[in-house]
Amino acid sequence: MVKSQVVEREEIKFMIDDSISEELKFWHEFNQFTRSKIGRPYLEGRLYEELKKGVGEFLGSPEGCWFDAGCGNLPASKWILEKAQGDIQIWAGDIDIDGANEEIRQVKDAHLITIVRTDLREGWPFPNDFFDGIVGNHVFTFLTKSQKTGEEANGVLKEALQEAYRALKPGGILIWTMPKKNANTLYGLLHTLRYLLDPSRWRKHGPSLLLTTLKAARYTRKIERKGKKGIYTLLEKEECERILCSIGFTDLEWKDVFAKQSWLNRAKKPA
Ligand SMILES: C[S@@+](CC[C@H](N)C(=O)[O-])C[C@H]1O[C@@H](n2cnc3c(N)ncnc32)[C@H](O)[C@@H]1O
Repeated sequence: MVKSQVVEREEIKFMIDDSISEELKFWHEFNQFTRSKIGRPYLEGRLYEELKKGVGEFLGSPEGCWFDAGCGNLPASKWILEKAQGDIQIWAGDIDIDGANEEIRQVKDAHLITIVRTDLREGWPFPNDFFDGIVGNHVFTFLTKSQKTGEEANGVLKEALQEAYRALKPGGILIWTMPKKNANTLYGLLHTLRYLLDPSRWRKHGPSLLLTTLKAARYTRKIERKGKKGIYTLLEKEECERILCSIGFTDLEWKDVFAKQSWLNRAKKPA
């Protein structure tokens, strides 16, 4: 790992403007929910198990500098640490860092993670060619700009992917997920309900598992509605491929994850 490239925390600039305050409130509540006693089984449930497996396969044996973009309660940082070989250092960035700050207390190798309050809609606070890899789990398509709608809003996603490209070292990889354009919460709910019948899960969590599922479905439904209103940028896989290729990414690979409601993508910045 190239230690000389490490950015000191105080050098990292961030800015949260008013237009995001409503979104910040939404995600703050969501992150609070997923680390609460009722919400935690969601992050430990089948949907996330499937994500972890898919992301893990794309990660291989990561080393060097990694960015967990939109880290929430740090699930992706933990996946990277579990798969790491050799030296690893992770930056975990989010507009809401309360979850990460609380969760990091449970992480064995917490010293390997630097939490940064970051607004991913703005220029990312990292130098060019800095990261060996970036993971963005269900985040880039949720970036918004209140004054932008329709076509312009698509630009927010593209700008974020451009920033990812800029911040990656040549040969670096981007691993990210996005809900499908026509994702359907009801389908996800049915998938999870089947899982509720698993006796070992039921023994562990009891009837509160039902509440977890319903509350999680309520959040995903809100997200789905925002996507339908055009607040979030939910695109067909082919449209995303066009954007990624126009930026310069190559070697695109896709996995169908999250009860077939999301795409997991790996893209490479050419060496
Ligand atoms: C669906 S959650 C995913 C969290 C985490 N990646 C996970 O796997 O559980 C979306 C995350 O994106 C973050 N987020 C939303 N808008 C953001 C922005 N403009 N800049 C940085 N993070 C943002 C939210 O705070 C939230 O933690």
